[in-house]
Amino acid sequence: MSVSIASPLRGSEPSMGDLAPMRTAHAIVGVRQDGRSVTLEWSDGRRSRFPALWLRDNCACPECRHPQALERTFMFIDHSGPRIIAARGGGEAGLEVEFESGGVVHVSRYAQGWLRAYDSSAAALAERAPALRLWDAGINDTLPAVDYGAYMHTDAGMRAWIEAIQQDGIVLLRGIPAQAGALLPVARRIGPIRPTNFGEHYDVVSMPNPNASAYTAMGLELHTDLANWHSPPDVQLLFCVKSSVRGGESLFADGFRVAEDLRVKDPAAFKLLSAHPMEFRFHDDACDIRASGPAIELDPAGRISRIRFNNWLRAPMVLRADLIDPMYAALATFWRMLRDPAYHLKLRLDPGCLLAYNNNRVLHGRASFDPTTGERHLQGCYLNFEDLETQLRLLDRAQA
Ligand SMILES: [Fe+2]
Repeated sequence: MSVSIASPLRGSEPSMGDLAPMRTAHAIVGVRQDGRSVTLEWSDGRRSRFPALWLRDNCACPECRHPQALERTFMFIDHSGPRIIAARGGGEAGLEVEFESGGVVHVSRYAQGWLRAYDSSAAALAERAPALRLWDAGINDTLPAVDYGAYMHTDAGMRAWIEAIQQDGIVLLRGIPAQAGALLPVARRIGPIRPTNFGEHYDVVSMPNPNASAYTAMGLELHTDLANWHSPPDVQLLFCVKSSVRGGESLFADGFRVAEDLRVKDPAAFKLLSAHPMEFRFHDDACDIRASGPAIELDPAGRISRIRFNNWLRAPMVLRADLIDPMYAALATFWRMLRDPAYHLKLRLDPGCLLAYNNNRVLHGRASFDPTTGERHLQGCYLNFEDLETQLRLLDRAQA
């Protein structure tokens, strides 16, 4: 083990060929290496270990990373496993590591902020876990809201809108001109609209010959949209143009909140719903779109990553015969919980208002309405999370 108490290198901060700002308030105060890895000690007491191959693979020098494209050109399988000969540094000029591989020596430098950003110690991973604020009916008094002008014309407005969708899964945008099509510039401020078999955007009005339940005046149970797609859309925008009918109030529930409660209340039901895919299907004269996925999808860490449920799109269950009754029982339990008003956000969307929500987390529905009592015209479209996330990163870059 070679130990070097950080003795700052001379020179400026090394370029990591990365456009994202990576500042850190913490300094490297100790560097140790044992030939196979480097362990850094930080001013806040954190220790981070970086294996030799990982460090060598992430060298950002012009030999290893294309200087204009900023993409990796180094291919680790073309080199024998690297051995660390020396590691030194700390402070603004970062860390310098000398590698030997097949008799060739290569020197790599890493910026302090970059090392902190890619630290994979347990403390760092916990810090980077998504900060979700799960909600129940209490959100009726605290629904995040942003004004249209601020959203369209200020960075802070757009940031607040995106962060609310990331954290709360839902946000209200107020003060949009109550005209058909006014949702399109709202969506395009973020990125391209994601088209579906219903077009780039769709109109929710009652139709004489509907091809979908949304185009009737029926009440709609809580659901996620396009559960019959392999990747259902990430963010749904629902905009009110006209609303003078009796009935038709909108209903929402945080599927992650309800599913987390189910995990505690009935672990066996939670396990069934998260382990077995269900098929969903939409078909009309022009298409037949089917996809399967669990009602409660988990990521590799066991966190809930997606709710996929839509009762009118649910196809016949294809499951081992002995699991069918337990699966119906599990679905019934989850569904009774979802109908509990203690979980509901209930509101009447006024003309000029737009709700945007995470379609893979927040379920939506509506009360039935009487189309003879007035007009009801909503418009909807979808966005990809990639475009929301990229806008936030560009804002971070501009502020750095
Ligand atoms: Fe819907």
